[in-house]
Amino acid sequence: MGEKDRKTYHIETLGCQMNERDSETIAGMLETMGYARASEWRTAGVIVVNTCSVRENADNRFFGLLGRIKKIKEAAPHTVVAVCGCMMQQQHVVDRVKSTYGWVDIVFGTHNIHEFSRLLANVTDEKAKVVSVWDEGGEIVEGLPAARRYPYKAFVNITRGCNNFCTYCIVPYTRGREQSRGAEQIIGEVRNLCADGVKEITLLGQNVNSYRGRDAADSEQYVDFPDLLYLLSEVEGLSRIRFMTSHPKDFSDKLIRAFAELEKLCPGVHLPVQAGSDHILECMNRGYTKETYLSLLAKLREVLPDIVITTDLIVGFPGETEADFEETMDLIERARFDSAFTFLFSPRKGTPAAEYDAQVSEDVKHRRFNRMVERVNAITLEKNRLYVGRTERVLAEGRSKTDETMLTGRTAGGKLVNFASDDRSIGKFADVEIVGVNTFSFFGRVKDEFQE
Ligand code: SAM
Ligand code: SF4
Ligand code: F3S
Repeated sequence: MGEKDRKTYHIETLGCQMNERDSETIAGMLETMGYARASEWRTAGVIVVNTCSVRENADNRFFGLLGRIKKIKEAAPHTVVAVCGCMMQQQHVVDRVKSTYGWVDIVFGTHNIHEFSRLLANVTDEKAKVVSVWDEGGEIVEGLPAARRYPYKAFVNITRGCNNFCTYCIVPYTRGREQSRGAEQIIGEVRNLCADGVKEITLLGQNVNSYRGRDAADSEQYVDFPDLLYLLSEVEGLSRIRFMTSHPKDFSDKLIRAFAELEKLCPGVHLPVQAGSDHILECMNRGYTKETYLSLLAKLREVLPDIVITTDLIVGFPGETEADFEETMDLIERARFDSAFTFLFSPRKGTPAAEYDAQVSEDVKHRRFNRMVERVNAITLEKNRLYVGRTERVLAEGRSKTDETMLTGRTAGGKLVNFASDDRSIGKFADVEIVGVNTFSFFGRVKDEFQE
C-alpha cells in the first residue's frame, strides 16, 4: 500500500458541534479497533467524511471532497472510504452516492453511529460495501468511546434531535425527534471528564433548554435544564459550563436566575434570533416575536450587564420584504449583539420553506446580506473596544491558528484572546489584560502567573 498505513484514519468533519462530537465518537471507536490518527489525510487507511446538510454550500463541500477522495482511492484502492452524518439521512443523497460514487465503501447515518465498528469490520474482513441508514434513532446508546480533540475542554451531548420544525431547517429530518439523556449519565460523564483534566464543558443540543431528563435518584422524576446546570456546577474540578444552542422560546426565568446564581455558568449565550420581522418569525415557526426576544435580552442584561450575546441571522427567507428586512436591521441596532453568524436563506429539499412562493432573488439577498454583515461587524467592533484595558480570565487552549508564536484562549464570556506565552500554560487559567481588539479577536498581555 506504499505510503499508506492501513491502520490509520482521518475524519473530515463538516457542520456543527453535534457533528464534531459525533466524530470524536467515531475516532474513539477507530482507536479502540487499533487505528491511529493519520498524520496526513491522503495517507490514511480509513477516511471518514461526516457531512452536514444545513445549507446548500455544505452539500457542495461534501461533493467537492468526494472528487478529491476519488483520486486517493484510485491511487490506493485499499483505502476504506466511509460517509456519514446529516446528508446521509436523506434518501436522495444516498441514491446519488450509490449511483455516482459507487466506490464509497460505507454509508451510515446519524442514528446508528454505534454500528460503525461493525460496518468497518464488514468492509475490511468481508470485503463487502455496506449502506446502513436508520430512519429513526432507538434508545440513546451510552458508553461509546471518544477520542476527544481537546484535553481541557469537552463537548457533552445532553439532547439529540429537534422537535421545533423551523420551516427552513433540515435538522429535524436528519437528526430525528428530540430525546434527552438521563441526568445521571450526563453527570457521570462530566465527572469522568473532570477526573481526566477537563475544566470547561459545553453542553450540546439543538435546543438545550428544552432538556427534560430522568432524575438520577428517582427515575419517575424529571430534571429540567436549569436543574441540570445546578447539579453540574457541583462537579469537582469543573470550572466553566457553557451550552449551545438555546432557543429563545424556551428561555425561562429559572434559567435566567441560574446565570445570576451559578458562578461556573459562563456569562455568554448564543441565542439565535433569525429575523426581526414578526411576520417572518411566524412563517419560520420560531415561537416568539421581536419584542419578546428583546425583552429576554433585557432580562439577561439586568442580571449580568456584561453578558456576551451572540446570534444567528437569516437573510432572504421567502416573502421577506424590504420592510421585513428593516425590522431585522432595527433588531440588530437594539440588541447590540457581541457577534452574529449571518446566513443567506438556502432552500432545503423536504422543508416547507423550500416550497414557499415568493423566493427572494439572489441579487436582493446578497444586497441585504452585505448591509447586514457590515452593521453587525461594526457593532461587534464597538463592543469589543470596550474591553481594552480590562482584565479577563482566560483558559489557554493551545497555539493560535493564525500566529504560531501566540497562545489562544477564551474569556468566560467566550471572546477569543491571543497572547504570548509558552506551551506550559496550555490548560491553565490566567488573568490577561486586553491591550488590543479587532472584530474577531482580542490581543492580551498575561498579568498573573497561570493557575491550574
Ligand atoms: N438549533 C439551533 C437554533 O435553533 O437556532 C441552530 C441550528 S442550525 C444547525 C444553525 C443555524 O443555521 C440556524 O440558527 C440558522 O440560522 C441557520 N440555518 C438553518 N437552516 C438554514 C437554511 N435553510 N438557510 C440558511 N440558514 C439556515
Ligand atoms: Fe433547526 Fe429550529 Fe431545530 Fe434549531 S430549533 S435545529 S433551527 S428546527
Ligand atoms: Fe449540519 Fe446536521 Fe449540524 S445538518 S449543522 S451537521 S445537525
